Amino acid sequence: ASAQLAGQLSGQPVPAQAAASASLTILFGSQTGNARHVAEALAKQAQAKGIVAKVVDMAEYKTSQLKNEQYLVIVTSTYGEGEPPENAIGLHNFLFSKKAPKLPGLKYAVLGLGDTSYEFFCKTAQDFDQRLAELGATSVLPRIDLDVDYQSQADNWSNELVTKLEPELTAAGPSAQVIAWPGSDATVGAVSQYSKQKPFAAELYTKQKITGRDSTKDVRHIEISLADSGLSYQPGDALGIYFLNDPALVRELLLLTAVARDTPVQLAGDTLTVEQALIEQLELTQSYPAFVEKYAAATNNATLTALAGDKAALRAYIGERQIIDIVRDYPGLLSAQQLVDALRKQQPRLYSIASSQAEVEDEVHLTVGVVSYDAYGQPHLGGASGFLAERLAEGDKVKVFVEHNNNFRLPPGDDTPVIMIGPGTGIAPFRAFLQERDARGAAGKNWLFFGNPHFTQDFLYQLELQNYLKRGVLTKLSVAFSRDQADKLYVQDKLRAHGRDVWQWLEDGAHLYICGDANRMAKDVQQALIDIVQQYGGKSAEQAQTYLDELRVAKRYQKDVY
Ligand code: 2AM
Repeated sequence: ASAQLAGQLSGQPVPAQAAASASLTILFGSQTGNARHVAEALAKQAQAKGIVAKVVDMAEYKTSQLKNEQYLVIVTSTYGEGEPPENAIGLHNFLFSKKAPKLPGLKYAVLGLGDTSYEFFCKTAQDFDQRLAELGATSVLPRIDLDVDYQSQADNWSNELVTKLEPELTAAGPSAQVIAWPGSDATVGAVSQYSKQKPFAAELYTKQKITGRDSTKDVRHIEISLADSGLSYQPGDALGIYFLNDPALVRELLLLTAVARDTPVQLAGDTLTVEQALIEQLELTQSYPAFVEKYAAATNNATLTALAGDKAALRAYIGERQIIDIVRDYPGLLSAQQLVDALRKQQPRLYSIASSQAEVEDEVHLTVGVVSYDAYGQPHLGGASGFLAERLAEGDKVKVFVEHNNNFRLPPGDDTPVIMIGPGTGIAPFRAFLQERDARGAAGKNWLFFGNPHFTQDFLYQLELQNYLKRGVLTKLSVAFSRDQADKLYVQDKLRAHGRDVWQWLEDGAHLYICGDANRMAKDVQQALIDIVQQYGGKSAEQAQTYLDELRVAKRYQKDVY
């Protein structure tokens, strides 16, 4: 109550005309598009009820607007160790800073997306929820934290929210108005009938291993046809891939559980055989706590039930295990339907697109690192990468869709210099950037940092890159082959070595991009950048951090990390 009073006294009364113009603002914090999809679906539900609703990318949101909001929904995912997605960092920082306004007039709701395999499940959503409450805002519906398989619960929550808000937000009379937001299908002129919900069956043109025979890595260059799909993409976008699980893996799973392959099961309202469900619809190559819990219960396994009860022990146990490893460890009997119910629906995998349509027209190229490892005495293959590399043949069809990413875009100006840091398969979007800038005849300078274990084995797209360098499309190419000398050499070491030039490029307005490993590489690179700004910009550590924050807000520092 005191916070509300403080708000009234602080001279920010709700404007008199507010009742007539009350609308719903839905902010999304998203890295892979899931939160954006949930936000858009919520907006559609609200608009169908006559509520004026708009969806805004958190990176585009003017924080000065916050104190004018009356109804706010936050839909956000969480990354790594409880960090906000890239596009949510600015708003998150702002809300937790001294600049955050009191928000006594605000009604809000928060929906979190996450993955229960991680310790800091839905942390960012919790942060927003807690902080908005601290600032005096009133929650209109309890926050919901959703796991990877979020769709139906997200729909239900959205429905409940809309039902709750409808009387308040439509009081001024029906004014249903569909607002197109930047990046929505209505504004990007997406003409394709294909989407995540309705993927396109695309033909695999070619696949080629682009790491050497003696490489520790297996990377494939893949070309897929989008002909007659109407699908289009921009450099920076990702391709979503639905894959089929390995039939041999499915056979083993059925054997271990003594389930007959042709047993009919129900899945999302359809009847199909258990084998079909396992191959086409369910997640087998990533395991997660909910599977262990449900499988332990269905097979009456006391040991596994005890394990499932201890979150930390369970996470440690899951480790690199796929579903098959858990069933191998604890074979048990259960019905076909119980098996299906214990598993979650397959989520499509996103790959950063490695081509520009200005160059390849109706093709789309990917740079796929094949996940392949020995563990627990058995070989393992990743779900999507194993499918693309081992089971999909040239001429076969693969279900795809385009996931737009407005937070990873070339600068609007063709003269703007660009610094790209993309070790390993992180090179993918930069091949797209270079193709695009080449096709456009963009005059801006381009500097690529690439790294991988060995020059002779792992120099992805070596000929293309050297050709770009020769033709001047690439201004500079800095490579770090980590294992070609006694001491490890990484892209951040190359950045530091060129610190003065990097600083000069930034001062000349360069846009900076990082793609690749989020856990170690992107953090180490960020630290190198801070050091460079400190050293050559004559700034303190804190000022250097602020400098990078400002670059991010200005969309001059963008990340596509995973
Ligand atoms: P390494 O495997 O030899 O240690 C692409 O995977 C490249 O990124 C490899 O050369 C790999 O080196 C390197 N790499 C590993 N950890 C890294 C880190 N923390 N920062 C930057 N590059 C890293």
